Amino acid sequence: MLNESWPADLGPVICVVGARPNFMKMAPILRAFSAHHPALPTLLVHTGQHYDRDMNDRLFVDLRLPHPDINLEVGSATHAVQTAEVMRRFEPVVDAQRPSCVLVVGDVNSTLACTLVSAKKEVPVVHVEAGLRSYDRAMPEEINRVLTDQIADRLYTTERSAQANLAREGIAEERVCFVGNVMIDSLLSNREFAHSPTKTLQMAGVDPAVLDDPRGYGVVTLHRPSNVDRAEQLAPLLSVLREVSEQLPLVFALHPRTRANIDRFGLGELLASPRIILLPPQGYLEMLGLLAGAKLVLSDSGGLQEETTALGVPCLTIRENTERPITVEQGTNTLVGCDPQAIRKGVAEILSGTGKTGRVPELWDGRAAERIAADLSQWLLARHARRGS
Ligand code: UD1
Repeated sequence: MLNESWPADLGPVICVVGARPNFMKMAPILRAFSAHHPALPTLLVHTGQHYDRDMNDRLFVDLRLPHPDINLEVGSATHAVQTAEVMRRFEPVVDAQRPSCVLVVGDVNSTLACTLVSAKKEVPVVHVEAGLRSYDRAMPEEINRVLTDQIADRLYTTERSAQANLAREGIAEERVCFVGNVMIDSLLSNREFAHSPTKTLQMAGVDPAVLDDPRGYGVVTLHRPSNVDRAEQLAPLLSVLREVSEQLPLVFALHPRTRANIDRFGLGELLASPRIILLPPQGYLEMLGLLAGAKLVLSDSGGLQEETTALGVPCLTIRENTERPITVEQGTNTLVGCDPQAIRKGVAEILSGTGKTGRVPELWDGRAAERIAADLSQWLLARHARRGS
């Protein structure tokens, strides 16, 4: 244990979550703080960017996340309104709590909003999963990443390419620390609790016999605005999924954005097949079980690229680029864009056994959060001592 006590005049670490992909990153960090540095006070703030039972509550339970100390309840809105509303509601929290730092994860709107508020109040910002770059500014997340990293005082990275990206943007090396991947901490610590795919389907009221295909089954997720917000983009993707399902049954966990757009564009017919199982967004343990048992995954998610690499399951990423290049270079990930021909080819390779196998990247060992807790507590104490108060 590093610090048996914590200076009384050094405020809490405010830990911010907002949207689904933040939860699996924050859970191991909070656990590492309380296991290794119990004297260090933390405060969990939820912005309320995601709020549904499926997008929020189930994940909190599965990940054993504590109930947030504060919920800002911002809900859904345009990017500008959502970001502004988080800022407006987060500022009084910072004023009241006088935190030692604000810790943000990932690249969602809440990440950037809380970063901006903190920096203007001269509260140090700590960014977990820093330095990832798709170099595609049409992705809202890319804007959030670039700006958060410019402002952050301590930056924790998941892969070595991130350090090089940050150096190119003029971010001093001493602000950056390579710790590994907290998302994989969550995956490894929950693996044994994952729900079986059969149970997940039964609970969803679906006959699990559909998964009894000799070739196995595939898992699908799609939610990026660039793939699902326009009918011209979404319709061909759904058609190719329909084709793939003739070879391999598919379990498609539908994000609310995607479900709404399928309905709005009248594309439901394309998915009307007994070999395509449509499910609502899944809990963490259900999804982990589905992924671990899958023959392949088709997705545009950032996190799934990493999780499939850690599980050794082939992933075809329906994007032109990735901010997580290590999953392609070392892992099981292949970028197929939204070209139906590339998707068909990728699926054929995996089904014929010539798909990628891959290996688990450096420091994706389940201990990234421990490294963050050790480094951050030292960093805060050193900063406190330097300021002499
Ligand atoms: C956000 C993140 C994205 C992340 C994704 C995971 C940004 C810019 N984007 O995108 O990086 O991969 O979360 O899901 O922060 N909705 C619900 N219930 C909810 C939340 C949202 O029904 O609990 C619906 C609303 O109609 C909302 C839409 O989903 O308008 C989109 O939600 P939003 O948080 O704006 O963005 P995501 O697409 O989820």
